[in-house]
Amino acid sequence: MKILVWSAILLACGTAAASAEDPAKLPVPFNADGTVNLPQNYRQWVNVGTTLLPKGEVNIIDGQPIAASEYIDTYVEPQSFAVYMETGIWPDGTQIVKEFTATQDAAPDEVLVESHYTGLAMLIKDTERFPAETGHLGYFNFGHHSEPYERTASLLPREQCSSCHEALAADQQFIFADHHIGLQRKSTE
Ligand code: HEC
Repeated sequence: MKILVWSAILLACGTAAASAEDPAKLPVPFNADGTVNLPQNYRQWVNVGTTLLPKGEVNIIDGQPIAASEYIDTYVEPQSFAVYMETGIWPDGTQIVKEFTATQDAAPDEVLVESHYTGLAMLIKDTERFPAETGHLGYFNFGHHSEPYERTASLLPREQCSSCHEALAADQQFIFADHHIGLQRKSTE
């Protein structure tokens, strides 16, 4: 019981500290060689919405047109989510993934049913690690294929990911919050 109470207090403090005026850095699982680990349990992070990439569109991970439509689920690490929803600012240490799922072949009037997970892209905000990158954002991918995904990923070049986020989401900290219904904030001050 004592342990439980202390964990609750520590958790509460952590969240409070991260949302204070001088925000604390949220932990990010980088390795000594600069790669980042495949995040654990990201499907239990906050799912902020789903978009549909129609068959034939290009998947941003490998730049290839897709043979079957893919759903894209976006998950935000819960502490980053809490700070963003409270303040409107993405905190240092923010982690967001988007996971692709392939769908079964279907006629236009049929239900589009998922078949399997098929790829994972990630962005991380880290002011120390990415001092010069736009928005202090680093972009990664863990493969565009069935599971298992890659265990680690390296920082991707600016032209592959950041350039598009810079061009289209400069007015929202380079993260497309307006595409995700779960990121609509009540107060817009
Ligand atoms: C051609 C433009 C474009 C490129 C290139 C691009 N993105 Fe995005 N990205 C988007 C858009 C638009 C969204 C909004 C959600 C959606 O429609 O999927 C998004 C959303 C995301 C998200 C969810 C958070 C957010 O901003 O909504 C992540 C994570 C992400 N992209 C990572 C990447 C990675 C990693 C790469 C490079 C492999 C990449 N992106 C390349 C346009 C792009």
